[in-house]
Amino acid sequence: MPDFQINNSEKERTFLVGAEVRSARPLLSLADSLSELGLLADTAGLEVVGQATQHLQQIDPNTYIGSGKAEEVREAAIEANAEVIIFDDELSPRHQRQLEKVFGEGIKVLDRSALILDIFAQHAHTREGALQVELAQYEYLLPRLTRQWTHLERQAGGGAGRGGTGGVGLRGPGETQLEVDRREIGRKITRLKEELERVRLHRRQHRQQRSRAGIPVIVLVGYTNAGKSTLLRALTGDDIYVADQLFATLDPLTRRIDLASGRHVIITDTVGFIQKLPTTLIAAFRATLEEVKEADLLLHVVDTAHPNVIQQIEAVEDTLAEIDTPPIPKVLVWNKIDKWGDQPLPQRPPTENYDREVTVSAQTGYGMNALLDALETTLASHLRKVKLLIPYQRGDVVSLLFESANVEHQEHQEAGVLMTVQLPLSLYERFQEFVVDR
Ligand code: GTP
Repeated sequence: MPDFQINNSEKERTFLVGAEVRSARPLLSLADSLSELGLLADTAGLEVVGQATQHLQQIDPNTYIGSGKAEEVREAAIEANAEVIIFDDELSPRHQRQLEKVFGEGIKVLDRSALILDIFAQHAHTREGALQVELAQYEYLLPRLTRQWTHLERQAGGGAGRGGTGGVGLRGPGETQLEVDRREIGRKITRLKEELERVRLHRRQHRQQRSRAGIPVIVLVGYTNAGKSTLLRALTGDDIYVADQLFATLDPLTRRIDLASGRHVIITDTVGFIQKLPTTLIAAFRATLEEVKEADLLLHVVDTAHPNVIQQIEAVEDTLAEIDTPPIPKVLVWNKIDKWGDQPLPQRPPTENYDREVTVSAQTGYGMNALLDALETTLASHLRKVKLLIPYQRGDVVSLLFESANVEHQEHQEAGVLMTVQLPLSLYERFQEFVVDR
């Protein structure tokens, strides 16, 4: 019976397969994408024992890489004693079934998406994170479910905080063997969506409270392993989990920091991005990524010393575009400058969409003050100066303005308090009814 299980306790021997289709325009070269797949496999607890690549005129409708190459891969994998073969691209359900036939019993066939889903399942610690991954897993599984394998092993205590403790069905929930047919998975998907909606409603309320308090929200985005969590730790002095692993942080972490001017900002970490992010995951994480869309400022953290830094920047920008991020002020943070040394920064295509660039080392603390200055000036440059007349009975609005805006001047008049303030653009709409002079 085919299964998606990754057995982390035994470091399963794994063979990687990458293919490049002639007409495609991949972000990374075949070799670089395959070495990233190797890192992902390592993060999932697998041992890479060999690899093969193939250049294709077009994707083979049955075996993806063509039957001759598939046979070659089978022989090489057997020779290397591999138990798992992982393809660098998402396989269709049909490819998966055909390849399983070619490779025979005893060799599991996985693809990049299944691998990323497995890593996400291991790293989701909050209820929302775990629900999102579970939903993405079932959505991935549904079209791949055939008559012959309607059994999904279940783990006990599915849901939040499960962590990676083995189990079949893409680390599916539950422990006992259970007959699961399409309809049942469909029902599960519906239930998961409902539960997620409840959890999200709760989080949305929190977010609204935060934005009602008028504190600007800064969101960290970046390619996986760029150093977002380390940067958050350097900025806040907190003990945040950092690991040289892909997707160490899955659940958004939020902290408050004070800027030199005395203003507070909220800073939130987000899930790392990666090229070829499975579509089911993007869909599942769309709600978490809502944080990105509602930010007052995005900090795009990059690993300056990574050989593919430019492609990584592009992959993050592509994902931001894919989730329809509106134009938000952006600061580009060239991190890990300690590893890069004194060389000039990598050349990259013109990106007029960044307000500022800063070079830092989150690890040594280099550049932190410059970064804080850049945050402050960027936020300030997106303020809008307005005059507001607040009636005396609206003392709540006056206090809100003192908390969230720069109040330059106030004068008591007959009709109320006349205030000259600089407002973040995100708050402008809220106070529009009181504006007397723009
Ligand atoms: P994901 O959770 O995958 O999204 O990663 P992340 O972007 O949160 O990266 P994280 O902060 O976990 O850092 C990844 C690795 O890079 C860790 O081993 C860090 O110690 C290392 N790192 C982060 N910043 C720096 C830096 O400025 N210099 C050096 N040399 N290493 C750094």
